[in-house]
Amino acid sequence: MKTIENIEFGQLAAQFGTPLYVYSENELTQAYARYQTAFVALNPLICYAVKANSNLSIIRHFARLGSGFDTVSGGEIARVLAAGGSADKIIFSGVGKSEVEIEFALNAGIKCFNVESLPELDRINAVAQRLGKTAPVSLRINPDVDAKTHPYISTGLKANKFGIAMADAEQAYRHAGSLHHLRIVGIDCHIGSQLMDLSPLIEACERLLQLTDRLAGQGIVLEHIDLGGGIGIAYQNEQSPDLAAYAAAVQTLLAGRPQSLVLEPGRSLVGNAGTLLTRVEYVKRGEEKNFVIVDAAMNDLMRPALYQAYHNIENAETSERQPVFLADIVGPICETGDFLARDRMISAQAGDLLLVRSAGAYASSMASNYNTRGRAAEVLVSGDKVRLIRPRETWEDVFASEKSVLA
Ligand code: LLP
Repeated sequence: MKTIENIEFGQLAAQFGTPLYVYSENELTQAYARYQTAFVALNPLICYAVKANSNLSIIRHFARLGSGFDTVSGGEIARVLAAGGSADKIIFSGVGKSEVEIEFALNAGIKCFNVESLPELDRINAVAQRLGKTAPVSLRINPDVDAKTHPYISTGLKANKFGIAMADAEQAYRHAGSLHHLRIVGIDCHIGSQLMDLSPLIEACERLLQLTDRLAGQGIVLEHIDLGGGIGIAYQNEQSPDLAAYAAAVQTLLAGRPQSLVLEPGRSLVGNAGTLLTRVEYVKRGEEKNFVIVDAAMNDLMRPALYQAYHNIENAETSERQPVFLADIVGPICETGDFLARDRMISAQAGDLLLVRSAGAYASSMASNYNTRGRAAEVLVSGDKVRLIRPRETWEDVFASEKSVLA
């Protein structure tokens, strides 16, 4: 039986049931250390992008490692505070910040707002004025580079809803400078996720620095440069980008500049630390296709349905005794899009445990209750210690609030 740290997957499935997300604490620590080591000369503030996996225990683990946090909602800020993260290391990104969220963030005392439009600048200024505060702001600039990733997770093109266009940037900074309850602290960008090529990241950095120079010429001096999300990870057997090469390129570009560096990695800190354990319910052999029907579904892992994403799936047994055959690995949800993998060679029979790999990022955090399925439990493994970090939702949990208002 395969293991995570010192624990067999079978033991976890027996103890906590399936589907089950399991995370290796050691892998989380190492992933964070890889960023620290690669960027050591720049001493960046690494702001873990909470959306990748927002479990409080995962957030707490990163907080203890010294991490800051990139958040995109009042709820995520509340999570970071509840997990013991410090407010002065929280940055608040996102295109649609509401007044309630802005007020909450200002009262909490976050490090900065990553602002995405002129009307957002006005709104933050107005809320800060009402509260008698000054809001620290960075402008998210859309550098118009092609991140060469899936269109749904590409964010740095003119056609995307994100950020302030490069052509409007200087005017936006001047506007920010004219608002009395804002303090300009930085510049940021985020061009997309699951980036497997470093060149767009480096190009975006260059464009931001050119703008920073033009702003300095106008007397607008920035404290930090935030390069957005991290590098992509291996889902199959691709080679993920060389973090040291990325860091070296950024170091060369930032040399001699007064600005500090901020990074917002999500996926690359948690993605390969997680595995989704699922039990085979049935094997259905057909004329055209075979189906391995498992107890995890698109509500537990949306990525294959939403982005045609590939996740490695293996039998948890180490020995390959059973026949290997071609099949779609599907869940119990009543949608044709409910698949975890298509046309995969797999060894599986009813009752077997399967491992869906690279499920640490954008899996549990994107889970839903569709088909009134309770969200799966989550466990964190450290050596031979196992900790339940989210109990399984029961059916009652799923509709309890509706039951309480049933007429
Ligand atoms: N910063 C901002 C402003 C972001 O929008 C994101 C991700 C990140 C940082 C973190 O990027 P990362 O280091 O994880 O690449 N659900 C999709 C991914 C959506 C990413 C959204 N933004 C997926 O499952 O592939």
